Amino acid sequence: MTTSSSERGVSLGMPELPAPAYPDDVRARLETDAREVIARYPDSRSALLPLLHLVQAEEGHVTRTGMQFCADVLGLTTAEVTAVATFYTMYRRKPSGDYQVGVCTNTLCAVMGGDAIFEELQEHLGVGNGETTGDGKVTLEHIECNAACDFAPVVMVNWEFFDNQTPDSAKSLVDDLRAGRPVTPTRGARMCTFKETARILAGFPDEREGAVESGGSAGPASLVGLKLAKGEASPARVVHPRGEAARTGAPHEPSPTEHLSSHDAPQDTSASDPAHPAGPTAEEGE
Ligand code: FES
Repeated sequence: MTTSSSERGVSLGMPELPAPAYPDDVRARLETDAREVIARYPDSRSALLPLLHLVQAEEGHVTRTGMQFCADVLGLTTAEVTAVATFYTMYRRKPSGDYQVGVCTNTLCAVMGGDAIFEELQEHLGVGNGETTGDGKVTLEHIECNAACDFAPVVMVNWEFFDNQTPDSAKSLVDDLRAGRPVTPTRGARMCTFKETARILAGFPDEREGAVESGGSAGPASLVGLKLAKGEASPARVVHPRGEAARTGAPHEPSPTEHLSSHDAPQDTSASDPAHPAGPTAEEGE
């Protein structure tokens, strides 16, 4: 996802006014938190990403004040901080709702119902892409593939997964969020607000009940690759018997050079493979 020059805060010919400062008590509190984060890294500038989450937790989005704060405590220029803050879509540049509801509309989710979910949520909430409901609770947006395609269509709220959604389940979800009813994602601890999520992403303890047990969990379908890598599962093989085995029906033992799946290019061509001749067969030609 790209951002325009105006979204990046690039002024064209107009000198920018200095960013307003945080009140003294807020700045003192943020400096204490920032020192804790910076101490985790051998090079202070490596702390920029969590510090952007920290200032986002303070105001709900990354403001010029927040970027100036990051630049000050890390010894960076505001241009360096701005370049990072505007590159990653997890940093918001304008006020948004307590719950960022993202509907995956990449290819697989779209065809599995993501497009329908997004359209119905727009109508249900009365907002368009990137817009926030009047009560300030929900911001609706398209999101890109979140590598959870095996659970398509996927909706994410503050980056927690809600798998295998339907238009009706998604509408119930946003209704619960707006009404303040407790909501638990498919894989994760109970929902918290965008600001609370940002503080967790800054690296501070996630004290939600069940957060440790469920944090980072993945569904069985997503874990197949890991099991394969550990040798705990056998790879699926689709081989095409040919030659002697094809004629006799004997079990086929693929050679190392033989293709292993139906997606690989065949090693034999029709000209060299009597089992798969090109053109009409002798019987068809008679
Ligand atoms: S296409 Fe939606 S998670 Fe991958």
